[in-house]
Amino acid sequence: MELRGIQQAGVEILANHYKPEVIICKTPSEVDAYVANRLAQQIQTRPDSVLTLPTGNTPTGMYEHLVTLVKSGQLDLSRVTIFNLDEYHPIDPSHKGSYAAYMRRHLIDQVPTSAWYIPNGQAEDPQGEAARFKALLDAHQPVDLAILGIGPGDTCHIGFNEKGSSIDTTVRYMPLDPQTKATNSQLFEDPSEIPEGTLTQGIADILQAKEIIVIAKGSSKAWGVNRALKGPVGAEAPASFLRLHPHVTFVLDEEAAGYLQ
Ligand code: GLP
Repeated sequence: MELRGIQQAGVEILANHYKPEVIICKTPSEVDAYVANRLAQQIQTRPDSVLTLPTGNTPTGMYEHLVTLVKSGQLDLSRVTIFNLDEYHPIDPSHKGSYAAYMRRHLIDQVPTSAWYIPNGQAEDPQGEAARFKALLDAHQPVDLAILGIGPGDTCHIGFNEKGSSIDTTVRYMPLDPQTKATNSQLFEDPSEIPEGTLTQGIADILQAKEIIVIAKGSSKAWGVNRALKGPVGAEAPASFLRLHPHVTFVLDEEAAGYLQ
């Protein structure tokens, strides 16, 4: 797979870029069904697929569809290997706000899968944990399909790769960005319990996947989607790097597509 773009004097210069496919669905639930069906097709084509999967509000409906497909006998995830995109640090994996607990609730405890890897939010040495997770991920690359969300407002983040994350970043510890902290703390029963840091796949890890799907729903994503697809490619808008990958699809509801012309 050919990634496009060159680096010069620390500045990413766009040599050329691809045009992601954009699918606009009428409603958020159509987004969920569309992405779940794309994921199901991938797994039916290759039952031992390696996937990168996201957390957050956006993909919960997609997981519901997937679980329904499995429980009704239409889909089998038992040979699939799952990598998560990111996790908070420090956090006990049993804490309700952790991405590990999210994954157990929405997928892992619901249906059989072959293997599931997520950064250990409790690791005493976060850099060492990042290296361990990266080695595991590298041993399974290229991931067949990565599904990502995108950050709200003007963050334009993917995973926890916030503004300033360059194209060559790999799995690492990142302090939690203040804007992301304010948004994500609403997902904690006690917002003050949100951790100060994160462990995240880097841009370079994400771009190694054979295919990438970005899901975005709601008006809070409209600016970031437009910035990612239409603005300059660079670290100021990490999701814009996806345009250097040849097989990317943005699946949007009408609100998230609201700024696209
Ligand atoms: C979070 C996570 C991302 C997620 C994104 C969107 O901060 N780090 O992995 O995809 O932001 O989250 P949501 O779907 O809740 O809007």
